[in-house]
Amino acid sequence: MVENIISMNDMKKEEILDILKLARKIEGCSEEEKLKFLHGKIISTLFFEPSTRTRMSFESAAMRLGANILSLPPLEQSSLKKGESFRDTIKMVEAYSDVIVVRHPFDGAARLASETSRKPVINAGDGSNQHPSQTLLDLYTILEEKGTLENLQIAFVGDLKYGRTVHSLVKALTHFKPTIYFVAPQILQMPGYSLEDLRKKGIKYEVLEDFRDCLDKIDVFYMTRIQKERFPDIEDYEKVRGIYVINRENIEGKCKDDMIILHPLPRVDEIDTDLDNTKYALYFKQAKNGIPMRQAMMMTVLKKDKEFFL
Ligand code: CP
Repeated sequence: MVENIISMNDMKKEEILDILKLARKIEGCSEEEKLKFLHGKIISTLFFEPSTRTRMSFESAAMRLGANILSLPPLEQSSLKKGESFRDTIKMVEAYSDVIVVRHPFDGAARLASETSRKPVINAGDGSNQHPSQTLLDLYTILEEKGTLENLQIAFVGDLKYGRTVHSLVKALTHFKPTIYFVAPQILQMPGYSLEDLRKKGIKYEVLEDFRDCLDKIDVFYMTRIQKERFPDIEDYEKVRGIYVINRENIEGKCKDDMIILHPLPRVDEIDTDLDNTKYALYFKQAKNGIPMRQAMMMTVLKKDKEFFL
């Protein structure tokens, strides 16, 4: 049973498929019907790091289900400024709301919140660790576009060291027999523990430095931003800044006709805007899928899925 959504390590294949199915069902309901699903509930959003999509889509998703939103004030105006601990803050928010959505710069912060709170916690991204709500909307988008999650060939390109969306999605994909290409400069390659996990599970993967070495084989091109804010040494960032840029010239005619490009966004310069209106570009639709997917997540942790859909 899904009590909290903290890491893709915690979710079984059936639980992933159930939540994707629920999102599809919610999407098929009228706006009027949806307003009943979380009527009277309060969703807290605690963002200790910048966000546009995750925060706004959780809030929009909740409002469209009839819930109210309670947001942590800007850090400068909250009692964290006076020295209140993260744990005490969570205890307070637990008393004021029904679900806690938390983003934090430290790996493990969402897990700590879930161990502190008796109310469900959803991880909206913790450091370089996990971003399960992004992963579920990524899977939802892939399933909608490809009709299956099984046996796909997927390239992850860019910052694979610090990119939590990559760590989360790779973990989830282990259930679906993928072939994975990890394309990054050496200093930004996938963490060894993740590659070791794939090896033990018998998942096929290749480590590359040039996406052209796999471009003609892949079904999904998962581009990521180089995460400047996570580099301990800015000189290392300068060495890899702008290393991968895709545009119509280096994609069109060189990939499968039905390849899709995903990106968790925000992008900086790694996807040229000249790709935005091509059939490959799915990243804005992907972000929009955050609404039904996050609605399904909130309904699941509040055990409202069976009430409305049995
Ligand atoms: N994809 C994502 O997490 O975007 P935000 O940082 O804008 O929430």
